[in-house]
Order: sequence, then C-alpha cells, then structure tokens
Amino acid sequence: MARITYIEHGGKEHVVEVQNGMTVMEGARDNGIPGIEADCGGACACSTCHVYVHPDWVEKLPEKDEMEQDMLDFAYEPDLERSRLTCQLKVSDALDGLIVQMPEKQI
Ligand code: FES
Repeated sequence: MARITYIEHGGKEHVVEVQNGMTVMEGARDNGIPGIEADCGGACACSTCHVYVHPDWVEKLPEKDEMEQDMLDFAYEPDLERSRLTCQLKVSDALDGLIVQMPEKQI
C-alpha cells in the first residue's frame, strides 16, 4: 500500500492510498482523479497517462523501459527527467509518499 499524491495541473491535490500491485494510473482512475485519461487502458500505447514526477522521486523509481520511453515522445510537453507514464509504474510499499503532477493536458 502506498499513499500517493496526485496534483492537478491547476494545483489541486488528491491524496489516496493505492494497493500494491496496482499501477499509479489505476490509482487515479479508480479514485476518480481527473487529468489522467489512460485511453489505452494501461497497455503503454497512448501516452495519455503522462505525469511529471516530483524531483525527489525521479531517482527512486524504476528506470523507464524502451517502450515507455518511445511512447513518452508522443506525450504533451514531456520532460526528459520527470515525465513518466503512470500505467508503467507498479505500486509497492516503496512508492509510499510518491508525488506526481498532471500536465496541462494529455495530448
Ligand atoms: S494508459 Fe495508455 S500509455 Fe498508459
């Protein structure tokens, strides 16, 4: 279980507890948090689950694989360091305290 803070582009924060084994995208979707669309349902095929990870967390997350990296090229205003696709981030205790911010729009 991890407590994750999702910050909307406008600054509104949503703090929710997400079960281990789910993805950060599913945590947003299942809690009705706006700003993560996840059009492909988590198949790493759309880039509409894009977020900017808080700088403190960039190094703590598992590295992006090639598929995520390629798909991020299609995201809206990706940031080389901080952008991640939330459907590729599996929740575990290690993600407790994670903070992510949604972009202005998804694509
Ligand atoms: S939900 Fe489509 S890439 Fe993450």
